[in-house]
Amino acid sequence: MAGEVENNLIELNLNQNKDDIVDPWTVTSSNETGIDYDKLIKRFGSSKIDKELLDRFEKVTGKKVHHFLRRGIVFSHRDMHTILTNYEAGKPFYLYTGRGPSSTSIHLGHLIPFQFCKWLQDVFDVPLVIQLTDDEKTLWRDLSLEEAHKLAYENAKDIIAVGFDVEKTFIFSDVDYIGQRPEFYRNMIRIQKCVTFNQVKGIFGFDDSTVIGKIAFPAVQATPALSTSFPDIFKDKKIPCLIPCAIDQDPYFRMTRDVCPRIGFQKPALLHSIFFPALQGAQTKMSASEANSTIYCSDTPKQVKNKINKYAFSGGQATVEDHRKLGGNCDVDITYQYLKFFLEDDDKLEQIRKDYSSGNLLTGELKKILIDILTPLVQEHQKRRAEVTDEILQKFMTPRKLHVDY
Ligand code: TYM
Repeated sequence: MAGEVENNLIELNLNQNKDDIVDPWTVTSSNETGIDYDKLIKRFGSSKIDKELLDRFEKVTGKKVHHFLRRGIVFSHRDMHTILTNYEAGKPFYLYTGRGPSSTSIHLGHLIPFQFCKWLQDVFDVPLVIQLTDDEKTLWRDLSLEEAHKLAYENAKDIIAVGFDVEKTFIFSDVDYIGQRPEFYRNMIRIQKCVTFNQVKGIFGFDDSTVIGKIAFPAVQATPALSTSFPDIFKDKKIPCLIPCAIDQDPYFRMTRDVCPRIGFQKPALLHSIFFPALQGAQTKMSASEANSTIYCSDTPKQVKNKINKYAFSGGQATVEDHRKLGGNCDVDITYQYLKFFLEDDDKLEQIRKDYSSGNLLTGELKKILIDILTPLVQEHQKRRAEVTDEILQKFMTPRKLHVDY
């Protein structure tokens, strides 16, 4: 067995840091500032995104890096230098990301990888495939196959509303696509042949009573990292893949990276983001199944306002007098943390940080700034989503040649 799985990933469940748990199903920390991402990088064996990589990004693309990269929101990578080297040499790559459709609407946290993918797609002008794992959600959740499949199509509308280029993006439901293209299934089998039950037990914490659908599922999430799974787009060409996602999905791709060279494919590269925290605090991530900790992209302005005012954990002091004297703590303040994700202007953000830390800005005022940013963001998202007709949806979700030259 190649080293990567052996060294890094079997340890995931066996060797969780006592404080932080990060896997595809659970993200918790006992620290109020949230997950210790530096420790996580070490544990997972990925690389920190440093200044050198950011400078290279800017040099190669000629564009200022996205504020997610500038602010350490996209903080870790695997093989990103290789992607940039290839890109400089005029060699193509494609993007792959996904969503497990478990709710009718996506939430603000889901926007992070998708907004970032859109930026990457625009900057590099590359094709993007988006996997909707309706199969995963029916296996893990109390959802029928039909319900999960329906949610996949609902979520696809939200994803399209992020602004992807229809000529360069293919969105697919596993339940539909795997039966349509034997090339995908063949690659799945090639991957399944390389991974033992013992390995997935170690990686994903499966045990003897786990249903076999779950045991086989990691191969399904690995398969889109093999370009030949999409013959309509790539024919039979082996094109390198770059996967942007939050770091909870990394176990799937450590497994994928272990298998790829053994079946004649290049390992996929990765860009990892941190988690958009729950309203109640950075100890957990925003999650679709926790309505009160989550701002959905379908929430009304009133809901957005109420949720922030009522639930957003404050790093401010108990009284106005104390706050003026002692100032607020931006490291734990959820309102400030959300601004880091969604307020693009670096100078404004820095001014807010100074004013809040010094006590000039009160918690209520800080919350109002956030509400004034998130309300139009959510409303515009809803408007774009409403414009996604059945025809547009069908186009994105039909296997087809994309406008790319290979
Ligand atoms: P899912 O539906 O849990 O999440 C979809 C994407 O959003 C990221 N994410 C978050 N990012 C920031 N803050 C949060 N609070 C937050 N919650 C979720 C996830 O990391 C993911 O990138 N099994 C996957 C679906 C999938 C996939 C993929 C994801 C299939 N293939 C390839 C990424 C890349 C899932 O259930 O994602």
